[in-house]
Amino acid sequence: MNIDVKLAPQSPEVWGYKDKTVVVIDVLRASSTIITALENGARAVVPVLTPDEAVTLKSRYDSENVLLGGERGGLKVQGFDLGNSPLEYKKEVVEGKTIVFTTTNGTNAIRQSGSADNLLIGAYLNLEAVVKKALELDKDILLFCAGRQNGFALEDAACAGAFCAAVLRMAQVKESDSAKAARMIAASFDSTFASFMASEHGQLLERLGFSDDLKLAATFNSCKAVPISINGQLVLSNTKKPR
Ligand code: MLT
Repeated sequence: MNIDVKLAPQSPEVWGYKDKTVVVIDVLRASSTIITALENGARAVVPVLTPDEAVTLKSRYDSENVLLGGERGGLKVQGFDLGNSPLEYKKEVVEGKTIVFTTTNGTNAIRQSGSADNLLIGAYLNLEAVVKKALELDKDILLFCAGRQNGFALEDAACAGAFCAAVLRMAQVKESDSAKAARMIAASFDSTFASFMASEHGQLLERLGFSDDLKLAATFNSCKAVPISINGQLVLSNTKKPR
């Protein structure tokens, strides 16, 4: 088995998604929010590219059980039910609901990876559960950092490095140079929180008043939920079909 990291978003035509398990990482905050929503009982999270697409899609569903979630510029989209803070996605808010979700970078990376054999969503919150699932799926693993403005994001690279280190602890895998580089980045920080505070996006979120999101997203393994994409919807990985 091989493990590789895309340190910045790149078209799947370039990297190829066949026979791979792709793990999309947007630790601040789309991945952390999607994981929290499913952990707290959301039926599905449907990633879309734009707020307009979200509104159109909602009108096609039984809208009573659908919430619109996501951000632009880090803040809740006007007219949406929820923003992109994992703390908003509480059990009493999301249980039984479908969340139509759009964020600046995260949902874009998810949609780009849509044709991967297996597409999982990872963050520190569910790191161990995702690593176990990816090893069980027994295909080459590609960690896809959502990044920022189509470029590199330090916090995603460090999180990918933590995933690589965990995979190497649990299995015999061949790592690419970018996987090694991601591990080195992760190892250069005393804590996950320190990697957030060193990153441009972490600093922006702090300025916007989302310090509690940073603390939450820095927590290891508090969730068992492994979001997997089935027919364009993210559901818990033990769910065969979107309910
Ligand atoms: C994104 O998808 O760009 C992020 O999740 C932005 C954010 O932190 O809200």
